[in-house]
Amino acid sequence: MARLEDVETFHNISFPGHMHTQKSLSYATSFQFQDSDIVIITYPKSGTTWMQEMVSLVLNRGDPTLSTTTPNWARAPWLEHYYCPQVLCTARCPRVITSHLPHQLLLPALKASKAKVIYVFRNPKDVAVSYYYFHKMAKFLPEPGLFDDFLDKFLEGTVHYGSWFDHVNGWTNSVEDIENFFHITYEEMWQDPRSSLQRLCAFLQRPLQEEEVASTLKHCSFGFMKENAMVNYTLVPQDIVDHSQGKFMRKGKIGDWKNTFSDVQSHRLDTVFKAQMQNSGLTFIWESL
Ligand code: A3P
Repeated sequence: MARLEDVETFHNISFPGHMHTQKSLSYATSFQFQDSDIVIITYPKSGTTWMQEMVSLVLNRGDPTLSTTTPNWARAPWLEHYYCPQVLCTARCPRVITSHLPHQLLLPALKASKAKVIYVFRNPKDVAVSYYYFHKMAKFLPEPGLFDDFLDKFLEGTVHYGSWFDHVNGWTNSVEDIENFFHITYEEMWQDPRSSLQRLCAFLQRPLQEEEVASTLKHCSFGFMKENAMVNYTLVPQDIVDHSQGKFMRKGKIGDWKNTFSDVQSHRLDTVFKAQMQNSGLTFIWESL
């Protein structure tokens, strides 16, 4: 029986032992995707739950029944979590599958399929802050200590799930390797939810009527999701997530990093960002916000 503080190391990346085993990680990396699968890939704290909700609502034409009665992990399970095979046994088609795995671990399995892959990424400064506060609540993550110490590990890529820089570089460079690949940022979704939804619908080839669009936007808004127990993680027992330490649906903002980072810390991240992302060929929308 895994203990909450256990760590599982796989291909030099650490994962919470509470949800991951060598067997579950090997299952994920050798998974046989179906062409009809929809796969949501993110680095933690980048808008995973939000995208799961959007996809659920699009597939249900804006009807919130499923997303207000079934927890997100049962609708869009994490491929690398030990319970995934059990959930997928009864999943309806198209299956929605989530993963935080970096491209070097998951791309080989994905390349062989025509599955629709959605990659969401977010300003690493907001990710670092969101991840830091999540470490304080989630008892299956290490005690983060001071933000400064946590930031060191984030920049080194020694936090669980590895380096943000490798994750984003790796997946955004996979455009040519994956037949059906869509990427979007948290910031785009935040700034213009309607056109983000329209782009998503076009990618999924699931056009919606105006009232279905309006219902989808309403039910995947931060205000609605914050109160929806199927996505706000309040169903998770107190000994696994200490709800007295904060909320999973914490702020849901862009640029909130400014309330936690000092100028020196911001400069430290900028330096690593410049060194590691300069050849990415991407433009980063948050730089102009
Ligand atoms: P904050 O901690 O900055 O508030 P993930 O689902 O990948 O773990 O990401 C969690 C982050 O996404 C949290 O960020 C959470 O508040 C935010 N989030 C979740 N749903 C959202 C929504 N509908 N709109 C905006 N932000 C959302």
